[in-house]
Amino acid sequence: MNSVAVITIDGPSGSGKGTISRMLAQDLGWHFLDSGALYRLVALGADKHQIPLDDQAGLARFARDLDVVFTHSQSGEEPDVLLENQVVTSELRTETCGNRASQVAAIPAVRQALLDRQRAFAQPPGLVADGRDMGTAIFPDASIKIFLTASAAERAQRRYKQLKQKGFDVSLAALVGEITERDARDSQRQASPLKPATDAIVIDTSAMNITEVLAKIKHICQQRLADVSQQ
Ligand code: DC
Repeated sequence: MNSVAVITIDGPSGSGKGTISRMLAQDLGWHFLDSGALYRLVALGADKHQIPLDDQAGLARFARDLDVVFTHSQSGEEPDVLLENQVVTSELRTETCGNRASQVAAIPAVRQALLDRQRAFAQPPGLVADGRDMGTAIFPDASIKIFLTASAAERAQRRYKQLKQKGFDVSLAALVGEITERDARDSQRQASPLKPATDAIVIDTSAMNITEVLAKIKHICQQRLADVSQQ
């Protein structure tokens, strides 16, 4: 593993980690890894190529050979994602895709197939990595590990607003059910389950807005990075 500075931000879906991680990376001028997008791409590609969700070897092969391009965004907005030269940005963000991603992500061979690809994102001047197992499995030596959480009701509410803004037609009750189901699958699976690393700083964001969470994380980062440079 190389020695590039890495900040990991893990947590369940709707904890705000996607938005926060992207903003933090933009702020620091660092690279950004949206690891959930990789699992979503495998789920989407499997659907397009009719690879059944129980064909573990087929899914792992597809994951290993994943033909993806993440375009760069200057504004901190979500950039376009191309799967096999086709823009799939909005397809990736649907709840159906998220749920299928959570199913393919439970397959150890798929996780293994995506390991090196994720680690390759750690390039100078640094990386902000967003996911479920960034601090526990992918970047265990990260300089700073954050675990964001919030109640399921609050996360469903945030997800609802986010999806509505993007023009998706969703029901809040269905979202609460889906989030609870996805949390259970992500945290109970054998392979790299969703859980804070033992050295992660856990922040409950239920009663905080994005600006407050970002300010808190930046404060932690400034302290930690200053400590590291003094050693
Ligand atoms: O963060 P997200 O909602 O885009 O992630 C979609 C699914 O992918 C999530 O339910 C679990 C899985 N995932 C994972 O298992 N490990 C990661 N590092 C990121 C996502």
